Amino acid sequence: MANTIFEVRPPQTPAEWESYFNLRFDVLRAAWGQPKGSETDSDDNSSTHAAIIVPDVGCVAAGRLHALKDRPGVAQIRYMAVHPAYQGKGLGAKVVAYLEVQAKAQGFDLITLNARETAVPFYLKCGYSIISEGPLVWGVIPHKICTKPIL
Ligand SMILES: CC(C)(COP(=O)(O)OP(=O)(O)OC[C@H]1O[C@@H](n2cnc3c(N)ncnc32)[C@H](O)[C@@H]1OP(=O)(O)O)[C@@H](O)C(=O)NCCC(=O)NCCS
Repeated sequence: MANTIFEVRPPQTPAEWESYFNLRFDVLRAAWGQPKGSETDSDDNSSTHAAIIVPDVGCVAAGRLHALKDRPGVAQIRYMAVHPAYQGKGLGAKVVAYLEVQAKAQGFDLITLNARETAVPFYLKCGYSIISEGPLVWGVIPHKICTKPIL
């Protein structure tokens, strides 16, 4: 892993897409008893996807950016997930930075996200600010709403 170059890009092949969605399910859904399929939503077809794919391993980091239809100029990051074996190595920050570049290129001026409370320190490190309380997802995961202007 020490010499691995971690490139961020959209998944390309069917196998990469499968690995990407499997990572979202494994990291963000399975431990909370959520059903297979809950790792996707109808915005996936029109979103910007970011993945780090390691040869012979698969997708080890993922994130997604989509436009908020009712808030012009605002995009939301969702489904941020890094494989447990790869956490704490800067991959999550790389994915967020990639999505911010994409957001700027697409003309957005603000990114918003609902951060799991356990991930709030990560988003603060990425330059986000806490705006307000967020939803209590599935009745057990508290969230904070965080934003960052895209300059
Ligand atoms: C949250 C998550 C995406 C962060 O990705 P990561 O690759 O582990 O984070 P990085 O290594 O890029 O961390 C970037 C910075 O944030 C800090 N950081 C990351 N997670 C942190 C945490 N839980 N507490 C405190 N600091 C944290 C790192 O120390 C690092 O700081 P540095 O720049 O001073 O070295 C990842 O840990 C994860 O998938 N967690 C489980 C799923 C989850 O909670 N997703 C978010 C849903 S909103």
